[in-house]
Amino acid sequence: MDRYGVIGHPIRHSRSPAIHRDFALLTGQSLSYERIEGTLEGFESEVTRFFAAGGLGLNVTLPFKERAFALAAQRSPRAQVARAANTLGMTTEGTLWADNTDGEGLVRDMTLNLGVTLAGSRVLVLGAGGAARGIVQPLLKAGIAQLDIANRTLMRAQTLVRELESVSSEVPCHAFSWSEIPGHLYEVVINATSTAVAGDMPSLPAALFDQRTLAYDLGYGKGTTPFLELARQAGAGRTEDGLGMLVEQAAESFYLWRGIRPPGAEVLRALRAACH
Ligand code: ATR
Repeated sequence: MDRYGVIGHPIRHSRSPAIHRDFALLTGQSLSYERIEGTLEGFESEVTRFFAAGGLGLNVTLPFKERAFALAAQRSPRAQVARAANTLGMTTEGTLWADNTDGEGLVRDMTLNLGVTLAGSRVLVLGAGGAARGIVQPLLKAGIAQLDIANRTLMRAQTLVRELESVSSEVPCHAFSWSEIPGHLYEVVINATSTAVAGDMPSLPAALFDQRTLAYDLGYGKGTTPFLELARQAGAGRTEDGLGMLVEQAAESFYLWRGIRPPGAEVLRALRAACH
């Protein structure tokens, strides 16, 4: 049977096996998808062993995304901006390739599942770490009008903006420190900081949000997040967590491996129902 899996540390709680098994079922594909507990010392040899044994594709999660990117000989442009990979595969010539489907997953969740028009939107991304790097290139390709990146450490946002300018010069991109975030409305505000986990969200100008604003947190879990709570109180018309992105990034990986698009929305509905 065609063999796939997800490698991370810890990997116990990964939802990827359940999602990919649903995809396989719904598309009539015969494949196996396993959880692999990677080790900090042996990640590279574990990946190599998996493919040498006939494995066809791996998803990669924390803390190995950067190492997966470094290991691959062939890297997609979006993985290059991210400097991290969440999807690995092997070409027919035996070359290990790396891609990053996080940003495409976010864009597909917003446009297909949530019905948001990204084209022409002003977008603010909060954070300039790994999670932010993973989403910015596909956002630019979605036809947005403006991308502002705000980060506690200004220099990290500036570095990311400079890199983006060399990839795509059509969309204006600007970097801000947290305290200098422009006080005007954005159609989309995305939290890509790690505050969904840590819980200490700094305050934001209320002027960023109104009924037209989608506030989106890349984090997800039980209930709301500090960012979504703040956005709601500031008047954001819509607040969404990152569960849809989780399903859609998996769908994009499945598509890369199998050439077939699984029904992300259907699997997301089932997952949400199971979470509540
Ligand atoms: P990840 O891979 O989750 O993005 P990361 O690369 O460590 O992890 O980045 C964490 C991001 O959350 C960074 O943008 C970080 O800001 P700094 O670059 O200034 O460190 C941001 N972050 C974490 N805690 C924060 C907080 N309490 N307030 C504001 N930003 C925070």
